[in-house]
Amino acid sequence: MEYIEFGCNHAKASKVVLGLMRIPELDVQGIDALLNTAKDNGINFLDIADCYSNGKAESLLGEVFKNNPSLRDNFIVQSKCGIHKQEGKLTFFDFSKEHIIEAVNGSLKRMNIEQMDCLLLHRPDALMEPDEIGEAFNQLYSEGKVKTFGVSNMNPMQMKLLKTGLDCPIAANQVQLSICHTPMLNAGYTVNMDSDSSVMRDGGVLEYCRLHKIVVQAWSVMQYGFFKGVFVGSPEYPELNKVLNRIALEHNSTPTAVAIAWVLRYPALMQAVIGTTKQHRVVESAKACDVKLSRYEWYELYLAAGNFLP
Ligand SMILES: NC(=O)c1ccc[n+]([C@@H]2O[C@H](COP(=O)([O-])OP(=O)(O)OC[C@H]3O[C@@H](n4cnc5c(N)ncnc54)[C@H](OP(=O)(O)O)[C@@H]3O)[C@@H](O)[C@H]2O)c1
Repeated sequence: MEYIEFGCNHAKASKVVLGLMRIPELDVQGIDALLNTAKDNGINFLDIADCYSNGKAESLLGEVFKNNPSLRDNFIVQSKCGIHKQEGKLTFFDFSKEHIIEAVNGSLKRMNIEQMDCLLLHRPDALMEPDEIGEAFNQLYSEGKVKTFGVSNMNPMQMKLLKTGLDCPIAANQVQLSICHTPMLNAGYTVNMDSDSSVMRDGGVLEYCRLHKIVVQAWSVMQYGFFKGVFVGSPEYPELNKVLNRIALEHNSTPTAVAIAWVLRYPALMQAVIGTTKQHRVVESAKACDVKLSRYEWYELYLAAGNFLP
């Protein structure tokens, strides 16, 4: 495993992060085992959110921490807020001070912890007021409830706007990125060309994160489309799987580890958030840092996924 410096307290954070969105598929013993496998393989970073299965994911994690309190200290625990769900009502995005504080209090209670290491704003709220968010963050920090703050799915202008109200840096931006989901890269190859891929949908978010030393946390690293399926082994991607299998063999590794290594090869401060519920895939994924892809291999995988270079 490799590590990067993370957040205000320069914590040593693993490049492979265990995402817990799907843990409601497991029971408490299964989650405990999954976390222990992650720990034993060098993963020390957990990602969750208040809205995953309407709080059930956090509650299950809380059960695990209650049964096994020392386990919590092995992990940097990151949760997210800002997707406002109420039973029987519309779901909307809410970065109001009141909602952020209420959401964090709820998350801490469900997870049975006193403090979360990082809080991300989950999806941009068009109605956000940077000063109000800054007040919420300051209060949560001074109360010792959150150590570090970041965002998710935000473009550079949204981050710039947010920063006008913050006293703390934005530590991370969690965005969708995999070999089969690359709009953030595609637009950069086809600048000023008359093709769909040259439409910049993200405002140069990867470059902005590099310029400002914001950690890029890639989510759904094994998926194509918006949760359409896993590309490893998929008949939808025969050429990609041929190349993944060959490169895996050449590196004495597995297609899963190579797919994650591809994401980590991007030269920002990178983390890959994996979403598996299987211990054996956690072990495989943790080995991604051992795979050092050459530029040639990186582009070969990009092209094998059906992408285009001019
Ligand atoms: N910020 C955001 O907006 C946002 C959005 C979505 C997700 N996230 C975060 O990102 C994390 C990961 O997202 P994700 O769950 O979509 O990630 P993922 O790792 O791309 O997908 C996980 C799913 O793919 C399956 N899978 C993974 N590797 C596989 C392989 N080699 N072969 C076959 N199946 C495989 C898993 O099944 P098994 O369990 O059977 O292995 C699981 O169902 C989430 O837990 C969450 O923390 C953030």
